[in-house]
Amino acid sequence: MNIIAPSLLSANFLNLKQDCEMLNSSAAEWFHLDVMDGRFVPNISYGPMIVDFIGKATTKCLDVHLMIEEPEKYAEAFKKAGATNLTVHIEACTHLHRNIQQIKSLDMKAGVALNPHTPVESLKDILHEIDLVCLMSVNPGFGGQSFIPHTLQKIKTLRKMIDEAGLSVLIEIDGGVTIANAASIKEAGADVLVAGNTVFGSSDPSSAIEQLLKA
Ligand code: DX5
Ligand code: ZN
Repeated sequence: MNIIAPSLLSANFLNLKQDCEMLNSSAAEWFHLDVMDGRFVPNISYGPMIVDFIGKATTKCLDVHLMIEEPEKYAEAFKKAGATNLTVHIEACTHLHRNIQQIKSLDMKAGVALNPHTPVESLKDILHEIDLVCLMSVNPGFGGQSFIPHTLQKIKTLRKMIDEAGLSVLIEIDGGVTIANAASIKEAGADVLVAGNTVFGSSDPSSAIEQLLKA
């Protein structure tokens, strides 16, 4: 698969409607929405209310990335806000299996995100239960950081694990994705590229999306 998921974190929030319209008519299939609580990550972004507004402005898939503690408290609110995918961090979930069951019971696609230091092997006993793995290629919390090169090795290892198990779990890469490194990330085996700064820092966001897609 080859999906581009622009991250709204880098958008100008005074211009959100126009940005949604731009994304609606672009080649992006997903909107990536970063929710931060100031506890799991050292930054606070937005919650279900903004996700709900964005959902009303688009027909595309809402890919919600929860960088929060106790995500079970908010899963229902994000379902109501229109989330298609709900991704929780493995590092934030003591009872990850229970979190996954909850997300699936709410009829959302279940994703698990891994920080840069967390080995992909830690997914071995949950991989068959999930729809998506989000590999963080920066330390979560902020847009505009540089891609951590070791992520390429993690993608290859995870691709092998998924293929050998005959699963169709998607691999999403989040952080520091650029037009220059997109091809190598896809070659390593990624399905979904999240891009904040590369899209919204560009003078022509639609064309940046196109270039990421074609890379
Ligand atoms: C980082 C977020 C990312 C971020 C990516 O904590 O999870 O989704 O918006 O931004 P860029 O593409 O600018 O690294
Ligand atoms: Zn994200």
